[in-house]
Amino acid sequence: MNLNKILKDHTRMKMIGFVKEPTFETRICCLPKEVGQMINQLKLNVLIETGYGAALGVSDKDYETAGATISSRAEILENADCLPSINDVADYTLGDSKKTVIGIYNMAFYPERAEKYVKKNVDVFSLDLLPRTTLAQSMDVLSSMASISGYKAVLEATNHYHGSFPMFTTAAGTLQPAKVLVLGAGVAGLQAIATAKRLGAVVEAFDVRKSAGEEVRSLGAKFIEVEGYKEGENAGGYAVEQSKEYLEKQKLLIRERLSKAHIVISTANIPGKKAPVLIDTQAIDAMLPGAVIIDLAAEQGGNCEKTENGKTIRYNQVTIVGHSYLSREMAQAASQLLSANFFNFIKYLHTSTKDDDPILTGCQVIKNGILTHPLVKNKFELA
Ligand code: NAI
Repeated sequence: MNLNKILKDHTRMKMIGFVKEPTFETRICCLPKEVGQMINQLKLNVLIETGYGAALGVSDKDYETAGATISSRAEILENADCLPSINDVADYTLGDSKKTVIGIYNMAFYPERAEKYVKKNVDVFSLDLLPRTTLAQSMDVLSSMASISGYKAVLEATNHYHGSFPMFTTAAGTLQPAKVLVLGAGVAGLQAIATAKRLGAVVEAFDVRKSAGEEVRSLGAKFIEVEGYKEGENAGGYAVEQSKEYLEKQKLLIRERLSKAHIVISTANIPGKKAPVLIDTQAIDAMLPGAVIIDLAAEQGGNCEKTENGKTIRYNQVTIVGHSYLSREMAQAASQLLSANFFNFIKYLHTSTKDDDPILTGCQVIKNGILTHPLVKNKFELA
């Protein structure tokens, strides 16, 4: 439908608009399937910026066929009531009408991103802050992207590692299987373990959460345990910071395992905080020549002391890849999951009747231009 026609209709349905992501972003958060669902199930008008899905081979015509109206960015920013996007839209001129902005902004780590929305006529929801509850699982963008990144991390390692993953028995001799060490056995780590096992590697993993041990063993990998871990109350299944003694014991054991590993996939994170350093320079110095480290925690400082975010470097004879967005390298699969996650959240937001819904308050950072999220507020108080 034509945008002018929609705007003239005084009983018009709410309008939801998708603007193109910045050039560094390969993923999108709305595919034609979800456009159809937003129109037919939620009775929304959907505006899509010209060329929105072009890089993924999704044409404007595909969106139009699904029922969307193709518009310019300026028209969308002016007229849409709701602006979902993966990356921040704070630097755009958003128009005077109230906007609901939905994205994946990691504002607990980058509080300055939240600051930009303060005093604007906006509500902001950041989906990385969704509570990890059963009800919120279908909207859980972190789990979706971590699954893809964990899988891709192993494939990335195969590009840098010059040995074989499985054992090869040939007439010329036997090649030993690669030893893979996974640090942090959450969503990404478990997917990395499963992928490395499928490729025939010998896999071991470490996580501070004892409960991860069962999951690691169920995938056929060995779980490395360090005694003395303190579980966090009210941590919602996440890791919490540990005592000095525990960290020292952990460091020595990991150092010993690192010295035998060909591939290390590190995924250890604590939400909103700097990532724990599990691979210090002394440990890298003792690693095998040709070893490869894929550091998925690079954005939050990295699990490896030498990691450079967004770069692949060589230190001694070890290759270190610092990449927290490997899901961008599987953009089609990632967009499929993100589009479903965003749709499920939009549907929930659209149909929720409770003021204090824990899923919505859990990820709402800004309400009517006022900072409301405790984790993000806390960052300003500490600054
Ligand atoms: P994450 O990305 O924040 O961290 C990754 C892993 O690093 C975690 O397993 C964490 O325990 C580990 N870690 C943190 N500090 C460490 C250290 N010093 N040394 C070693 N490992 C360290 O977490 P992720 O993967 O997003 O989720 C973690 C857990 O949350 C899951 O395994 C699960 O138990 C729970 N979860 C629950 C969901 C639900 O119920 N809907 C959905 C997703 C996750």
